[in-house]
Amino acid sequence: MAFIEQEEINRIRNSASIVDIISSYVPLTQKGKNYFGVCPFHDDHSPSMSVSEEKQIYKCFSCGATGNVFTFVESFLNISFAEAVSLVANKIGLSLSVKIEKKEDTKFKDEYALMDFAQKFYQNNLNTEAGQKAIDYLKKRDLFADTITNFNIGLALDQNSLYTILSKKGYSDKMLEDVGLINQGENGLKDVFQNRIMFPIHNLEGKVVGFTARCYLSELTPKYLNTKETFLFKKGNILFNYHRALDAVRISKELIVVEGNMDAIRMYSNGFKNVVALMGTAMTKEQIEIFKKLRCKIILMLDNDEAGETATLHLGELLEENHIAFLVVRLSGEKDPDSYIIKNGVEKMQEALKGAISFIDFKLNYFKKNKNLNDATDLAEYIKVVIDSLKSSNDIILKEVTLQKLSKDYNISYAILKEQLGLNEAKETSKKVKIISKEPENKNSYDKICSKILYYMMNDLEYIKLYQTKLGIFPTKEYRAIANEIVYYYEKNKSINLADFISFAENNTLKEEIMAIIKNEKDLVLTENGLLELLDILKKKAKKEEINKLKQQIKEEYDINKKIVLLEKITELKKENE
Ligand code: GTP
Ligand code: MN
Repeated sequence: MAFIEQEEINRIRNSASIVDIISSYVPLTQKGKNYFGVCPFHDDHSPSMSVSEEKQIYKCFSCGATGNVFTFVESFLNISFAEAVSLVANKIGLSLSVKIEKKEDTKFKDEYALMDFAQKFYQNNLNTEAGQKAIDYLKKRDLFADTITNFNIGLALDQNSLYTILSKKGYSDKMLEDVGLINQGENGLKDVFQNRIMFPIHNLEGKVVGFTARCYLSELTPKYLNTKETFLFKKGNILFNYHRALDAVRISKELIVVEGNMDAIRMYSNGFKNVVALMGTAMTKEQIEIFKKLRCKIILMLDNDEAGETATLHLGELLEENHIAFLVVRLSGEKDPDSYIIKNGVEKMQEALKGAISFIDFKLNYFKKNKNLNDATDLAEYIKVVIDSLKSSNDIILKEVTLQKLSKDYNISYAILKEQLGLNEAKETSKKVKIISKEPENKNSYDKICSKILYYMMNDLEYIKLYQTKLGIFPTKEYRAIANEIVYYYEKNKSINLADFISFAENNTLKEEIMAIIKNEKDLVLTENGLLELLDILKKKAKKEEINKLKQQIKEEYDINKKIVLLEKITELKKENE
């Protein structure tokens, strides 16, 4: 990735108006000095994001998202920081001194071109004589010309036709094997996919990286044959249909997650465009990260079978652990979203989605399975698992509502239910208290002070000067490191403001820590005296620590004269600290 000098980044930022740029993506209205809009980075329903023309930053007072014009474009379009700088420069008619290329544009260029060629080759096979049978099969499954084209569905024939043509084009066997298009057969190298309907799989950027291939002449195992794991195709990093769904997800702020690619295709081609498929019932860490980045609500709609139900429980727990907002849809009657739409139509699917339930409601149903709730033992068992599953939740209201519901539905004393949940909670809190009491006194307030001072330094060079002359002493290495970065930035650029410092933080190893400070701090209200007071508190803390150290030394010292010297030092420090 090309390197853009800080000076150039600052110059572009200075020439761009954050209000103009953000309002080209999100409508903003002016209220007083600031502009407000619906925050695109969380499930926002009222305008929570404020954009300051004066400071050239945005901040959401609901989810805390914050940054400058570049970080907005970066997060909104899911592109790199350098690409965002280049895009903003373009928008305001400036040109960059370096050319910014997307990483993928140069890396694996040949391999992507190869996959693209293979996809077109398979697609073209549908136009051959043999293709007619495949088209008949697709028709039988209610997949028609439009959908076949939109999803680039193709066909692998029964010979090594792909291998033959690619060899003629000069591709090496090694490269073809590496991307998973050919492999070793009994009679030498051969096409991996034969006699199968080909569904291309795209990476998040929309480039073809692999295929999932369904048998169609007869039912075979495996039903679907996927491209092996290659450096391009990492199934765990991919969500089927992601690149097509992205725009619709940004508008609806919801993402429907289904199991099968056929489900995703059916949903998408019936207007439910914000849909992706897991291609099975597993969800990887990487996929969770993708969901987090999207900052939307997930609608988990897995198959209507036992595997789908168990997976809903497991994936639900996973989403919950990762603090991702989600609802659950359980279809009835049909096996999966695909057949549900074919059988019941689009409106019924809309109703099913509207009827999405919370995870706890799903669990209340799930745990009833194979239990006769008229039987006392079964009922007791049921109440126990429900209460157990509530323990992991931090949502007090949810706990309260669920307990009341249980109490009402099964005529069990609310007090007893609460005690059952509460007792265990009390145990847990006492554990927590112990951990906290080990922490240094007032850690939180010192953290707050440090964060505040650093925030002011990022905003105004006067505060940096003050910090330098009064030499504030930060209690931890981390804060000292951030202070050093601020001073370094200031000395290099001879000026500082928050919007530019955010660009600087982008390439800094302390980025997360710096952004956390900016996220937590409110608007500037501090005066010089205020800052001096804060610095003073830190200094006193440092002196107190020094005194404690000296006291320890006195204890360990045998020489009475030396003890006296140490004592004098302590007295001096104590006096200074008054
Ligand atoms: P159709 O039978 O074509 O309607 O497929 P489906 O989408 O209903 O598939 P199913 O519910 O059986 O499985 C869900 C997903 O799991 C599929 O979309 C595939 O991605 C994957 N899958 C299913 N069967 C196989 C298999 O035999 N091998 C592999 N590797 N993946 C499979
Ligand atoms: Mn299915």
